[in-house]
Formats: sequence, structure tokens, C-alpha cells
Amino acid sequence: GKVRVPTHVVSSICDDRGEEPTYAGVSMSELMEREYGVGDVIALLWFKRHLPKYATKFIEMCVMLCADHGPCVSGAHNTIVTSRAGKDVVSSLVAGLLTIGPRFGGAIDDAARLFKAACDADDSPADFVEGLKRRGVRVSGIGHRIKSKDNRDKRVALLQEYARKFFPSTRYLDYAVAVEAYTLQKAPNLVLNVDGAIAAIFLDLLAASGAFSPAEAEQIVNIGYLNALFVVARSIGLVGHALDQRRLQQPLYRHPWEDVLYTS
Ligand code: ACO
Ligand code: LMR
Repeated sequence: GKVRVPTHVVSSICDDRGEEPTYAGVSMSELMEREYGVGDVIALLWFKRHLPKYATKFIEMCVMLCADHGPCVSGAHNTIVTSRAGKDVVSSLVAGLLTIGPRFGGAIDDAARLFKAACDADDSPADFVEGLKRRGVRVSGIGHRIKSKDNRDKRVALLQEYARKFFPSTRYLDYAVAVEAYTLQKAPNLVLNVDGAIAAIFLDLLAASGAFSPAEAEQIVNIGYLNALFVVARSIGLVGHALDQRRLQQPLYRHPWEDVLYTS
């Protein structure tokens, strides 16, 4: 019989060997003919399936709303400094991307894990927050440096509004909002942030869209797909900042002495 030579690589999301490349079996022609968008491409290449229109639109909203948040945030600042050091677009981009993590933009997966476990276990928001506090763990998805109770994050409002209008269920979002109501009693900046909102709404998508089995939803949360949404989104803004510095011919950045407290 035939002997199959073992391959060195296994790949399950796309195929470029035929007349035209396919993403999860969908050809380039079909992508164009059906006027699919970036949300559909993410659905095919990350989740290997079609998602309903309201879900791909939500993914696109995440990408659009998280594309940039000004020059002062960690990522953009790193990109700007790197670009001003004369580095190329790729170096400036990755310098910014490297700041994405548990404090900045990369709290989505942990927020999803925490909200899912607590909501599925029917923990009250108070028990959830105080339990994490006892363990010395911050609530991922809660808190912001400049946004607060009286200066809400418009992105979070827009995402919530969309989910409440188009999603079959907002159980996890409702839970996250109840957590926010509790944390806001502690400090005005402990708002549900954009990472937390994306996490909670994505949990609702995984649970109620009918596109994922409970085991698949669990796997997606465990593997950690969701920070990647912020990575893709913010790359758009970071490239913008890198190019902007070059266009403006900005000189090498040096931080002012006055802004450093020298304690030696
Ligand atoms: N959970 C519990 N306590 C918190 C949280 C939180 N999420 N955030 C702040 N606190 C508490 C701190 O423990 C601190 O209390 P203490 O003074 O008793 O020690 C107090 O609030 C102030 O903390 P700071 O670190 O000074 O707050 P800051 O405003 O600098 O923090 C940050 C902002 C980093 C976003 C923080 O709220 C946090 O770590 N949140 C969780 C991570 C997260 O969701 N990041 C994504 C932000 S959105 C984005 O980047 C796109
Ligand atoms: C962002 O999107 O970069 C932020 O929410 C972080 C910030 O401090 O503005």
C-alpha cells in the first residue's frame, strides 16, 4: 500500500495550492463576490467558520474602535520613540506591539477567563471582586488611567449598545456591568474598560451565537484568541504613528531631565 511520508508542518486554516487560495475553504473569488469584510476573514482564519453578520460586524467594530487611542498610550509612545530613532516601520510597529499585555490592551483573554468562571459559577460581583482582592489579583477588564465614572469610555458605550441591540443574549456583558457597578463604589476610575467590554461581549458571542459548541468556546477562552483582536486593531494606529513621525521629520527623542526624579 501507499506509505505516507510524515510532514513537518500541519496547517488547518488555509490552502494556497489550487487555482486560487482559500481561507477555511472559501475562495478569494467568493470573498469578493459576497462582499465579505475583515470580520469575515478573521472568522475564517481564526475560527475556521462563517459567523453571522452581527458577529463579524462586532469583530470589525472592535478593530475600528481599538485602532488608536492617541500618542500618549504605551504602545504609541514606544512606536513614536522608535520611529524617531530612525528605525523602519516594522521595528517601530513591533516596539509598540510589545507593550500590549496585562495592563495595556492585553487584558482581554484574562478578563474573559475571569468573567466566564465567575458568571458560570453564579458568583456575586462582590464575591468575585473581593475574592480576587484576597488573592492579590487585579480584575482584568476593569480600570482606566483617564476614563472614569464621570468621563466614560465612548468605545465601551458603543460596543455595549451594539451588543444589546443585536446579540441574542448579553448574559456575560450584564455580569461585567454588574461587576463595574461594584468596583465603581470603590474608586471612580474602576470602570469597565474596552478590554473588559470586548471580553464580556465575546463570551456572549461564543455562548449564544450557535456557531460554537460549549467545548469550542471553552477552548477559545483557554487558548487566548482575544488579545489578538487588540493586536490587529492597534497595529493600524501604530503604523500611522510610525509614518507620521517620518512625515514630520521628527528628531531623535530624548526624555527631559526635569521629568525624571533622580534618586541616586
Ligand atoms: N482591579 C482591582 N484593583 C484595581 C484595578 C483592578 N482592575 N485597577 C486599579 N486598582 C486599584 C489598585 O490596586 C490601586 O489600589 P491601591 O492604591 O490600594 O494599591 C488603585 O486602584 C490605583 O491603582 P493604579 O495602578 O494606580 O491605577 P491605574 O489608574 O494606574 O491603573 C490600569 C490603570 C493599569 C488599567 C489598572 O486599572 C489595571 O491594572 N486594570 C486591569 C488591567 C486592564 O484591564 N487593562 C486594560 C486597560 S484598557 C486598555 O489598555 C485598552
Ligand atoms: C487604549 O486604548 O490605548 C487605552 O484605553 C489606554 C489608555 O490609557 O488610553
